[in-house]
Amino acid sequence: MRTLVVTGGAKGIGFGVAERFAGEGWHVVVADSDPQASADAAEKLGAEAAVVDVTDRAGLVDACRAAALRTGGIDALVTSAGITRIGPSAELAEDDWRAVVDVDLTGTFLSCQAAAPHLRDGSAVVTIASTAAFRGMPGRAAYCAAKAGVVALTRCLAAEWAPRVRVNSVAPGWVDTPFLRDAARRGHVDLDELAARPPMKRLSDVTDVVGAVRFLVSDEAGFVTGQTLTVDGGWVWAS
Ligand SMILES: NC(=O)c1ccc[n+]([C@@H]2O[C@H](COP(=O)([O-])OP(=O)(O)OC[C@H]3O[C@@H](n4cnc5c(N)ncnc54)[C@H](O)[C@@H]3O)[C@@H](O)[C@H]2O)c1
Repeated sequence: MRTLVVTGGAKGIGFGVAERFAGEGWHVVVADSDPQASADAAEKLGAEAAVVDVTDRAGLVDACRAAALRTGGIDALVTSAGITRIGPSAELAEDDWRAVVDVDLTGTFLSCQAAAPHLRDGSAVVTIASTAAFRGMPGRAAYCAAKAGVVALTRCLAAEWAPRVRVNSVAPGWVDTPFLRDAARRGHVDLDELAARPPMKRLSDVTDVVGAVRFLVSDEAGFVTGQTLTVDGGWVWAS
């Protein structure tokens, strides 16, 4: 049986990924720091829950080892755990900067590192970056820097781990998830205005991102590594 470990798998994009692979018969490990949401997601999908904070190396190592023991190895790792802190750079608290870089960038690295010894030949890693990696977005210094780091990390691991393991990234634009709804609730973004930005004239749906992840994990992408696939309805390159 093929095994997927997905960080941040309890909600949003990570949950969408978990749902898709579970639906295709994969053994899915929902690795998320929210215990209740992890348990709910795992129950709904017939998956396994691993309560783990991606800033905790030991927890990730245990979760990946347990997954590999159960099924013999890991066939895909998707790193979707992520947070943001929004505010003017000149006043951004150091703790906020560190929190975002710790979870979004260091957490991605630690997740890849923990999975590495268990990744089977021909397996695939997909990191979740963001179009923020390519844009100077006011008030999002830590997030933009962390996500640009994820793109660079992806290229580096791809070069190191080929030909055994492929490593790619997906960079979503504005995706309708709890993450974006929370930003809207706090008044940081206006969903109607965001939906009007891309040439495709809508927000991304989780399934848009899941489709790109599925492609990058599949044999159809067997000669694709080190790439970042932007899924944003054309926003970044059109504006
Ligand atoms: N929603 C968007 O518009 C958007 C756009 C571009 C990129 N992204 C990226 O996609 C990824 C998923 O975002 P989403 O919108 O699904 O977010 P979300 O908030 O809906 O879900 C994120 C999940 O990650 C988990 N998580 C948070 N911190 C964690 C930690 N330290 N350890 C383990 N789990 C943790 C949360 O519990 C949650 O289940 C993030 O990396 C985000 O930066 C989102």
